[in-house]
Amino acid sequence: MKKIKTISYLLASLLCINTAHAQHSLVVKVNEPKADIQPTMWGIFFEDINLGADGGIYAELIKNRSFEFLKPMMGWTVQQPKKKDDPLAAFNSPVLVVNRKEVNTANPRYIKVSVNNTAKGDLGLTNEGFRGMGIKKDLRYDFSVMYHQDAPGITMYVELVDSNNNVLGGTTVVPNEAGIVWHKIAASFTTNATVMKAKMNIWFEGNGVIDLDMISLFPSDTWKNRPGGMRADMVQKLADLHPGFIRFPGGCIVEGYDLEHRYQWKKTLGPIEERQLIINRWNTEFVNRPAPDYFQTFGLGFFEYFQLAEDIGAEPLPILNCGMACQFNSAEVATIDELDSYVQDALDLIEFANGDVSTKWGKIRADMGHPAPFNLKMMGVGNENWGPQYVERLKIFSKTIKAKYPGFKLVNSSGFAPNGELFDYLNDTLRSMHADLIDEHYYQRPEWFFSNVKRYDSYPRDGSKIFAGEYAAQSDHTVSVNNKNTWLTALSEAAFMTGLERNADVVSMASYAPLFAHIDGWQWTPDLIWVNNLQSYGTPDYYVQQLYSLNKGTKVVPITMGTDVVTGQDSLFATAAIDSATNEVIIKLVNASNRSQTNTVSLQGVKKLAAEGKLSVLKSNDLNTVNSFDQPAKVAPVESAVAVKGKDISVVAEPYSFNILRIKML
Ligand code: AHR
Repeated sequence: MKKIKTISYLLASLLCINTAHAQHSLVVKVNEPKADIQPTMWGIFFEDINLGADGGIYAELIKNRSFEFLKPMMGWTVQQPKKKDDPLAAFNSPVLVVNRKEVNTANPRYIKVSVNNTAKGDLGLTNEGFRGMGIKKDLRYDFSVMYHQDAPGITMYVELVDSNNNVLGGTTVVPNEAGIVWHKIAASFTTNATVMKAKMNIWFEGNGVIDLDMISLFPSDTWKNRPGGMRADMVQKLADLHPGFIRFPGGCIVEGYDLEHRYQWKKTLGPIEERQLIINRWNTEFVNRPAPDYFQTFGLGFFEYFQLAEDIGAEPLPILNCGMACQFNSAEVATIDELDSYVQDALDLIEFANGDVSTKWGKIRADMGHPAPFNLKMMGVGNENWGPQYVERLKIFSKTIKAKYPGFKLVNSSGFAPNGELFDYLNDTLRSMHADLIDEHYYQRPEWFFSNVKRYDSYPRDGSKIFAGEYAAQSDHTVSVNNKNTWLTALSEAAFMTGLERNADVVSMASYAPLFAHIDGWQWTPDLIWVNNLQSYGTPDYYVQQLYSLNKGTKVVPITMGTDVVTGQDSLFATAAIDSATNEVIIKLVNASNRSQTNTVSLQGVKKLAAEGKLSVLKSNDLNTVNSFDQPAKVAPVESAVAVKGKDISVVAEPYSFNILRIKML
């Protein structure tokens, strides 16, 4: 009954700002630690959805660089300006798609371009980029192409142009090797303007026939300036979250529409021209958000993933296919007899990450440039899988992996919903199997997040830990295209997360999902970070995640109103922690009401406090507020100093605000 009152008050209070002022007295018992907060507590979930990898963080600008899309020339146009009005030109194309699949299964196609005494401008190829190409003024761009020809004789003029065909920069390459072997030629150039949607032309001049493959263009300002690397602004957004872990590669992408299209990590290693692309399952998933040009080229493969995790100080958490395709799609399962290769993939991944360079997979890692181990400690078996068929397969994985790596932690799926028959079956079964970590997903309305803040208060304190592996408040409903990352969704997550932190003895890890969305290429909303070809911004939900992560603390301590934990009384949600490393107390207060609240917090069990604390506030009077490319920080943290009087601090929590207070203990 009390809970119902809280929720209805909260919903009623969403209507307008009330000038009335509430007063609360809270007590924090600094010397009564309740639970350790795991360093992994707040992490990130990465999936190649919404152009997250290809067309997103993976900085390749050329779409369909190796002609392996279902339609081999997708993204490309053959330019023959002089033959513009010749109806036969398209049928007598000088560009032929060749398929050598008998000798090269990973990258079978290339193009054969016949250049017949052609002058510059008469024959060209244009690539449109993923949704155009984001080009920056005064930046170096690195072009490369693999080629093969019987004899030299062709010059290629590479140029970037804007929508009016103004040239933004370019270079000339003269492939001069001949013979049966493929060669790579590369050249760089600098651009003269910033353009959101440029395209690239290659004009051919001369005489001869040339085979081309892996036509590539990268900006030079990638993350850590790695050639062929990742978009630095997008990686920086992740680094700024200081995540405890990175879950990768998903998500449903792990399972695939069918088993043939599942994610297979071994196919994502080695030279990029040997990484066999597959159709992205989000290409066709939503008829109302089709993305026919969405493929996974695996330029961001498992090596790059481990490297990214290492770069930003996060624990890797790979999720592997458990011999089951997506149960919303084909629901195919591998037979138990054929499960060995799936289990072997899991064992080999551990060896790839951690094995000595004398091991098969450790050597492959070393050959890719990382002789030191990546220290992989955990792995997920299955994404959103459920039913006895999952349990049957999971048991085989668990037994084999634990036999070889006893200390290794495994994440088990509890399906796609946080309650119901499927959930209950798995929850009971996994607990009886002594699962290390149970992965729970909740894509729910903001009301659910506010009213489920006590979800983990009643969970068993021993046994399996919880990984809140995918969650996001939905302003409309799951998979609705109308979902927005509003301040209400973020505030509800902030409130809910007080419950995760308060139950840190049960909840070891949590990650918002999905992570990225391209404004012109998304399939699923809401998402934590939005990008276009040049910019990225964090949503209000992003800043909630960031504030939790930056203010994690090491031990939960009690914060109470009277004798009760603060779980929505008068629309206030609270949690407190201490950070043993910095000797600070960290108090998080979420005011989900339309009234200002003066919260007097008394600290017990501490000798002395610094005279001043630091307050970080995220707020908006309008719950519909969103961030945008024009106003990326409309809802963003603002810091100020707060006076501490003895052991009492008075924090005015503004209407609809998330407040974090840090005070040094002396
Ligand atoms: O985050 C988007 C999708 O939601 C994930 O791929 C899947 O695991 C969940 O259903």
